[in-house]
Amino acid sequence: MNYSIALVPGDGIGPEVCSKAVEALETAGDKYGHIFNFVELEAGGCAIDSTGEPLPAATLDAARQCDALLLGAVGGPKWETLHGDKRPERALLGLRAGLGVFANLRPASLLPQLKDACPLKDEVLIASNEQGKATFDLLIVRELTGGIYFGERGRDGDGKAPDGSAYDTERYNRAEIERVLRVGYDAARKRRKKLTLVDKANVLESSRFWREITQEMAVGYKDIETNYLYVDNCAMQLVRAPGQFDVVVTSNLFGDILSDEASVISGSIGMLASASIGEIPTGHKYPAGMYEPIHGSAPDIAGRDLANPLAAILSAAMMLRYSFGLLKEAAAIEAAVTKVLDSGLRTKDIASRVKTGANEKIVGTKEMAAAVIKALENE
Ligand code: IPM
Ligand code: MG
Repeated sequence: MNYSIALVPGDGIGPEVCSKAVEALETAGDKYGHIFNFVELEAGGCAIDSTGEPLPAATLDAARQCDALLLGAVGGPKWETLHGDKRPERALLGLRAGLGVFANLRPASLLPQLKDACPLKDEVLIASNEQGKATFDLLIVRELTGGIYFGERGRDGDGKAPDGSAYDTERYNRAEIERVLRVGYDAARKRRKKLTLVDKANVLESSRFWREITQEMAVGYKDIETNYLYVDNCAMQLVRAPGQFDVVVTSNLFGDILSDEASVISGSIGMLASASIGEIPTGHKYPAGMYEPIHGSAPDIAGRDLANPLAAILSAAMMLRYSFGLLKEAAAIEAAVTKVLDSGLRTKDIASRVKTGANEKIVGTKEMAAAVIKALENE
């Protein structure tokens, strides 16, 4: 089969990790007889430099034509002083909204190989794990195209009244809440059948609406255990007893914050992949899908062969699974990553905190990716 993939390498470490994800896709393609056609597009800081816009219309148009999108990262200090609407991050929001990818899946688990990179004590991990193992495995389903990220915002006097006020608005309608909950419930069905709605229903009206709708929907998902948790408590529970979570469904802002926290307890933010999914657009065969590592552009280590390419490579695997239904191909990439970690290779970010990993070898981006590609060829 032929698949067209929009490639948005972006800024900072984006291009270096993205190119490794492309290699992984090409290797999987060669092995299993698929052709991936990449359409390289500009968005973020690099697009500001060349066109003045973080998300040129041509980029969004071209991305919409493709079957899926792979993104590296956007942003950096060079563009930090720009006005809100002109910042590189606008490109991300514009792509998410423009492609309609409303459900952001951020899996976070502790791989046994990375146990020594996890800041939590064994006893903390064990206490909340059903099998008494020092690990956890959760999936954050973050609403991605609504809420305070897209609500009305502004300043008194259009910013010309420095002593006035500034505001952002959290607003959700029923359809937005229901569709992301459906994604959460369907995911829970394929996992450990537990869904936790994370909100701030003790204070926010929008959260009370989320909770009401979840209570209604829970009736139709009797096989799933539905729980409710305030976001402050959830932030605490993640470092106190992460094993209690299976699927966590939450709003755009809460999901942003909690997924960074979840990444740290997985060993490193350099490991976490993400998939953002929408409906099947008219005239298309596959659901709208955007895949990106959650780590961001890390300008301090860009171009130095230090970035961990695994989150980008694992994002490519998520693309194969969620956009194209290529399950064995996705599993092969994931197995290759596991093998390489088993062999002891580590980028700096996932090295043991305590020097216990006897067989550990610290490598750069290129060596890590090359090892994954080799393992994939032999899968
Ligand atoms: C993320 C990032 C983005 C977000 C930023 C870069 C706009 O933090 O994908 O989690 O807040 O959504
Ligand atoms: Mg974030």
